[in-house]
Amino acid sequence: MKFTILSTTLTFALASANPHFRRGNTSEWEPAGADDLRGPCPMMNTLANHGFLPHDGRNITKEIAVYALNTALNFNTSLASIMWEQAVIANPESNATFFTLDHLNRHNVLEHDASMSRTDAFFGNNHVFNQTIFKTTTSHWTGDVLDANMLANGKLFRQVESRSFNPNYTFTATTEQFSIGEMAAPIIVFGDIEAGTVDRDLVLYFFENERLPTELGWTKKVDTIDLEDAAKASELIANATNLITSANAVAHTSRRRDLHAGFTA
Ligand code: HEM
Ligand SMILES: *[C@@H]1O[C@H](CO)[C@@H](O)[C@H](O)[C@H]1NC(C)=O
Ligand SMILES: *[C@@H]1O[C@H](CO)[C@@H](O)[C@H](O)[C@H]1NC(C)=O
Ligand SMILES: *[C@@H]1O[C@H](CO)[C@@H](O)[C@H](O)[C@H]1NC(C)=O
Ligand SMILES: *[C@@H]1O[C@H](CO)[C@@H](O)[C@H](O)[C@H]1NC(C)=O
Ligand SMILES: *[C@@H]1O[C@H](CO)[C@@H](O)[C@H](O)[C@H]1NC(C)=O
Ligand SMILES: *[C@@H]1O[C@H](CO)[C@@H](O)[C@H](O)[C@H]1NC(C)=O
Ligand SMILES: *[C@@H]1O[C@H](CO)[C@@H](O)[C@H](O)[C@H]1NC(C)=O
Repeated sequence: MKFTILSTTLTFALASANPHFRRGNTSEWEPAGADDLRGPCPMMNTLANHGFLPHDGRNITKEIAVYALNTALNFNTSLASIMWEQAVIANPESNATFFTLDHLNRHNVLEHDASMSRTDAFFGNNHVFNQTIFKTTTSHWTGDVLDANMLANGKLFRQVESRSFNPNYTFTATTEQFSIGEMAAPIIVFGDIEAGTVDRDLVLYFFENERLPTELGWTKKVDTIDLEDAAKASELIANATNLITSANAVAHTSRRRDLHAGFTA
């Protein structure tokens, strides 16, 4: 109840303060026009396409970002604030109060190499959806229901590909944290956080159209998405990036020592 009132108040305040700001609507969608800014994040682009964020991709203040993430996706407002605070450094001006979707394109600020669906900056456009690149990722999404292993496999593949062919491949420990969060994001928004799964169709539709998959039956989560939800899904992905199988896995049930067993078996 408290939440409904807050959302309504925010909606009203935003609509009256800024005539260009549309409140957003899951059933209204319009791709970017010639003067609209878009970036490397399929979700920020999606929210702008639906008008939850300014359709022109500009003036993403904390108030607006929190409104969009909360209204469209049911993110906890504290979590949404933290996400905006981590992202505002994308605006090169000091003490900025907003960023644009174009700011997100700045290489190695937030945008990084080995994305699932974008080319590395070294090779060209680092922010436009690239189906050729995306297909190499989705070839690792081997089931109708994606799990953490499939998402992690796609991520690891993209990093191996970049390190092999991009002489300027850059991927720091901070990048790794963001990257893990990006793999977790589809599970958090479109999937089942407890099970750590998400329908492949929903994720493909979202990436390829930069649109919420409402027509495939998706609706925003009834329960608010909290920091703990995000942390749990990220931990699942982080665990899945480890290529070592557990000691109980079938291939390792034999206690026989052989060349492959090393000295620790
Ligand atoms: C304040 C909110 C957000 C900001 C500022 C933001 C920013 C970014 C940026 C800069 C990237 C590019 C990283 C790269 O180079 O690959 C990115 C990627 C991504 N973001 Fe967001 N993001 C936000 C929220 C979300 C949310 C809520 C989702 C939920 C689905 C999401 C999903 C993704 C995904 C899946 C990618 C990876 C794209 C790829 O690898 O091709 N983001 N985001
Ligand atoms: C969303 O858009 C649809 C179709 O244009 C419209 O019927 C509906 O009233 C809108 N909802 C809101 C909350 O504005
Ligand atoms: C930016 O958004 C804020 C609300 O967060 C609003 O007060 C301000 O007028 C907007 N500025 C522009 C240039 O649209
Ligand atoms: C949002 O998260 C904060 C901090 O984790 C928590 O105190 C608050 O109760 C949450 N709000 C809702 C509506 O779940
Ligand atoms: C930014 O904020 C800091 C701390 O509040 C202040 O010292 C600094 O002068 C500000 N910089 C600009 C360019 O406004
Ligand atoms: C190349 O690598 C350096 C160092 O990691 C980085 O600062 C720069 O942004 C990279 N440029 C491209 C185009 O990848
Ligand atoms: C997409 O990526 C492929 C493979 O790297 C590249 O050949 C093509 O030029 C890219 N397309 C766009 C639109 O950047
Ligand atoms: C990740 O792995 C650790 C160590 O094996 C385990 O304790 C933890 O429960 C795992 N996390 C999730 C979310 O599965």
